[in-house]
Amino acid sequence: MGQIIASNLTLGYRRKKVLQGIDLSIDKGEFLSIIGPSGVGKSTFLMGLNATTTVLDGHLQVMGHDLNRVGGRELKSLRARIGVIFQSYNLVARLSVLDNIAGGMLHRRPLLPALLKHYSHQQYEEIYEYMKVVGIEHEALSRCDRLSGGQKQRVAIARAIAQKPEIILADEPISSLDPISARKVMETLRQANQKYGITIVSNLHQLDYAREFCHRVIGLNGGRIVYDGPPGGLCQATVARIYEKKEPAQASDIVAGPFPSTLPLPATALN
Ligand SMILES: Nc1ncnc2c1ncn2[C@@H]1O[C@H](COP(=O)(O)OP(=O)(O)OP(=O)(O)O)[C@@H](O)[C@H]1O
Ligand SMILES: [Mg+2]
Repeated sequence: MGQIIASNLTLGYRRKKVLQGIDLSIDKGEFLSIIGPSGVGKSTFLMGLNATTTVLDGHLQVMGHDLNRVGGRELKSLRARIGVIFQSYNLVARLSVLDNIAGGMLHRRPLLPALLKHYSHQQYEEIYEYMKVVGIEHEALSRCDRLSGGQKQRVAIARAIAQKPEIILADEPISSLDPISARKVMETLRQANQKYGITIVSNLHQLDYAREFCHRVIGLNGGRIVYDGPPGGLCQATVARIYEKKEPAQASDIVAGPFPSTLPLPATALN
């Protein structure tokens, strides 16, 4: 059974339907990218998965929670299981790398020591492990506003991992980075996927990275899914179809079959 299941889903905002007729199932441990033209609804989709955007019709289930009716404490605990990474990093600029990463653990630490930034030996060790995973341990005590964009994004990934999430949603995590930093960030996301079995759903504008790093690609256009399949299926004609100018009313149906993965899922995903 899928970790994320959408059926005939309409997603959007109070006065605006952005995506319609979305049918899709995402399994635990997939590394999936969402591609499509600007304004098509990639961020709307991603933020729908943690109930920030609204289910207007159909059904959306995430880790067994029905997002049509989730709220209050249930929503809070669901969001604690989902890490989010943004293009703009969203770190606390004046805090150190270490303190920012510890921020990801807030929901599972007592409040007072957390506010005083007092960490136990075990917590230091855990934070150090996450720093090593993203390769930022040498900057542990640096303020985040002194880091490069790529380093900041890796801190954001470490903070998300520190949350011990089952899913990470990454909204254009490499859009403001140079190619070398971008590659490093994608490799870090792959580490999070393979080492911890975290499902990664990432919006991307860079097709090459989607091809190289993801198990599966969802192409959106005209308010609908127009491609759902392995990155190997992204031939020139399919890419043109994903990016062709389309009004929502002209949207046509899916062109690829359901998820035949070309890359092996991490062993942790099979637990
Ligand atoms: N808070 C909001 N309220 C109403 N409409 C919104 C809101 N946020 C986005 N939209 C609209 O929803 C549509 C999809 O926007 P979205 O940001 O999801 O696109 P996107 O595919 O992520 O684009 P980009 O590649 O530029 O980031 C757009 O028409 C946008 O104007
Ligand atoms: Mg967006």
